[in-house]
Amino acid sequence: MIREALVHALTPCPRPLKRLGYLHGLIAVEARWRRCREAWQPHLEATRAQVEAAVAATPGRDLCVVVGAGLLLDVPLEALAAAFRRVVLVDVCWLGRSRRQARRFPTVTLESRDVTGIAAACLDATAVPAVPPADIPHLAEADLVLSLNCLSQLPLNPRHALEHLPEATPEVLDAFCRAVIAAHVQALAQAPGLALLVTDVTAERVLRADGQCLAEDLLFGHPHPQGGDGWWWDLAPAPEEDRRWDLRHRVVAGRL
Ligand SMILES: C[S@@+](CC[C@H](N)C(=O)[O-])C[C@H]1O[C@@H](n2cnc3c(N)ncnc32)[C@H](O)[C@@H]1O
Repeated sequence: MIREALVHALTPCPRPLKRLGYLHGLIAVEARWRRCREAWQPHLEATRAQVEAAVAATPGRDLCVVVGAGLLLDVPLEALAAAFRRVVLVDVCWLGRSRRQARRFPTVTLESRDVTGIAAACLDATAVPAVPPADIPHLAEADLVLSLNCLSQLPLNPRHALEHLPEATPEVLDAFCRAVIAAHVQALAQAPGLALLVTDVTAERVLRADGQCLAEDLLFGHPHPQGGDGWWWDLAPAPEEDRRWDLRHRVVAGRL
């Protein structure tokens, strides 16, 4: 706890984004990964395998952009640095472990960016804002764009910041989240290069006692990508979230 509070205080992150909870979220993902490392491994390996297959299918070798690069857990950075002249890693902010890993490769740069383009506007908003087009850097020049396990996360902090508004009914907030997700998918689909989307789409809480399952759509009603590969991510096996159930996410991968 003390270590996490210190990391939060000392890690550079624009103040509005810190207030929105992005840095806290990154620190929490790192802590959970440390606790559930073994359970996460098949999911991380499956994502890396999708990335390597997409690299093999990409003819251009100039620029690769990785969106939601975060802790680089699912990013085969060495393979990307070997395959492309430049690799740009994009996330809202960075923990020390990602900075240190990126520093090993002179052609890899970190870019701090809110790819929704909406987060800061949600802080202290007086009305639910209209969702702009996604703000993914270098999209027009990239030979390969990778969106790695971040799509379902994109609307969450903005949604939370809007929840206090009188107009923010669950329906209004769900529509807002759907629009954020749709903007990201649309930007990937319109990228001139190859785009790979890896995302969790459904959460399932499976009761240990009798196997009963409670499912939740992580894309707020946005159509799930079809036709690609899929697997389960054992995100929080009991007792991580609760001793009574395992939390697992369905993940799908597809090229756009
Ligand atoms: C589940 S984590 C996956 C991280 C990463 N792929 C890895 O292997 O460590 C989701 C990531 O999405 C990032 N993210 C969430 N909202 C974002 C936004 N608006 N712009 C850029 N990145 C965002 C988070 O900071 C986090 O790093």
